Amino acid sequence: MKPMDKLSQKREQIQELGGLKRIESQHLKGKLTARERLELLLDAGSFEEIGAFVVHRGTDFGIEKEQYLGDGVVTGYGTIHGRLVYLFSQDFTVFGGSLSETHAQKICKIMDLAMKNGAPVIGLNDSGGARIQEGVMSLGGYADIFYRNTLASGFIPQISVVMGPCAGGAVYSPAITDFIFMVEDTSYMFVTGPNVVKTVTHEEVSSETLGGASTHSSISGVAHFVAPNEVNCLNQIRKLLSYLPQNCEEKPVVQAYREDIREIKALDTFMPESPNQPYDMREIIEAIVDEDSSFEVHRNWAENIICSFARIAGMPIGIVANQPNVMAGVLDINSSRKAARFVRFCDSFNIPLVTLVDVPGFLPGKDQEWNGIISNGAKLLYAFCEATVPKITVITRKAYGGAYDVMNSKHIGADMNFAWPMSEIAVMGAKGAAEIIFKNEIKASSDPEQTLLQKEQLYLETFANPYKAAANGFVDEVIYPRETRIKIYRALKMLQTKVQQTPKKKHGNIPL
Ligand code: HXC
Repeated sequence: MKPMDKLSQKREQIQELGGLKRIESQHLKGKLTARERLELLLDAGSFEEIGAFVVHRGTDFGIEKEQYLGDGVVTGYGTIHGRLVYLFSQDFTVFGGSLSETHAQKICKIMDLAMKNGAPVIGLNDSGGARIQEGVMSLGGYADIFYRNTLASGFIPQISVVMGPCAGGAVYSPAITDFIFMVEDTSYMFVTGPNVVKTVTHEEVSSETLGGASTHSSISGVAHFVAPNEVNCLNQIRKLLSYLPQNCEEKPVVQAYREDIREIKALDTFMPESPNQPYDMREIIEAIVDEDSSFEVHRNWAENIICSFARIAGMPIGIVANQPNVMAGVLDINSSRKAARFVRFCDSFNIPLVTLVDVPGFLPGKDQEWNGIISNGAKLLYAFCEATVPKITVITRKAYGGAYDVMNSKHIGADMNFAWPMSEIAVMGAKGAAEIIFKNEIKASSDPEQTLLQKEQLYLETFANPYKAAANGFVDEVIYPRETRIKIYRALKMLQTKVQQTPKKKHGNIPL
């Protein structure tokens, strides 16, 4: 065969993957092939493959007789919105996408290139795990990937997409990366599957219940994004990338937007009459950010806090906001973990933080204390303290107790702190405070109930407003709600050149 014909033949072979029958079976499961996924994810025609001719080196159990070009993973680079990304896409039609020594080497190669060139890595996972015929060679391959995931963490964005099985130790690569996407009904992740669970704990559980998309996006919090199907999932990844820079040394891309200083009059009448009435913080977010620019992370998990990418006048920001509609917006273990991780991501990649505060405090209770609200709440505190990106805070209503400090207060390094006029900034709620500090007076009173009410009012007037904090410079400005967008916009512009040095050290020791 002539050399050029041989190349043509091999090129054709590459496109065949594990064969028509297995491709059909993949489609029947509602899944796309590794190559179809890349085509949909990337800008049209931008994919360049690396390592298409790689084959495995296994020699046991007859596997040497079965060879497929590419060895179950398609790797390479391309562009999304015209910007470079590196990718690997596991091919379930070849040995169930299982990871061999050479399969791992292909992934490591593109991760190394991504780090040298400072561009994101996206991994599309669809794999039966370690290539059973290769034993420790496969395990070593996983560890090589985990090591690179860790080195790349905070240097380039890493996105994992689970589009099929992802089980055993294989889950730890996605777990180290910045974001995990899952697809409803066709993807699952677990350390030990239903069979092992049954043997060890005698529990009967399906793969879907144990580690499906809905479990991980609403119960465990392992998955940050969930999609109803693969096409939607791939589109969401494209959207996420639009907020991110290529690496930690770049700033996120500012989209073209008109100079926009509009007031939002409706916000002036938005707050409910009673300070204890819930409202949807999403409505405030939607009002102050650019139209359709909000993109929530962990939308269905720890819903008492909202973490969302968005834009103001084209500038990408990360929003952290208490959600009064869910558990009164209280901080608990999961919401602290969720927001801490988001804050650290934004700080790693130069995305300014905007914090919207309406928090009654930390959630009391045995469950929270026994499960470590102390060290978990400290994660969020630590993350905000450590962040050096521009940090802007708006208190919309309550900022009570330790939660006032934690939610990006002036004291922990916020650059601009605004408060709406109805803000209540105090150690605790007025009733509780009055009951403690005026205990004796109330007891001695002829009408204890009336005295308590009076004392409560006194406390409210003294502390439960923004002016004490503003008088001390802890709040820079008390603003009309309608001014919120313009105030944040101007603060973001003013802080564009912010540089903040931190003490030189190897790394901090966040309370994990
Ligand atoms: C080699 C594998 C494989 C594997 C699947 N295949 N998993 N080949 N190594 N790990 C092959 C099958 O032989 C089959 O080949 C093809 O892939 C499709 O598999 P099916 O079983 O037909 O598909 P399906 O019914 O969809 O089931 C998918 C599956 C199942 C649930 C993933 O294949 C499975 O349970 N596989 C084993 C999973 C596993 O135990 N892996 C090791 C986990 S431990 P043909 O030729 O028929 O197409 C681990 C440790 C990692 O991963 C440690 C890192 C530190």
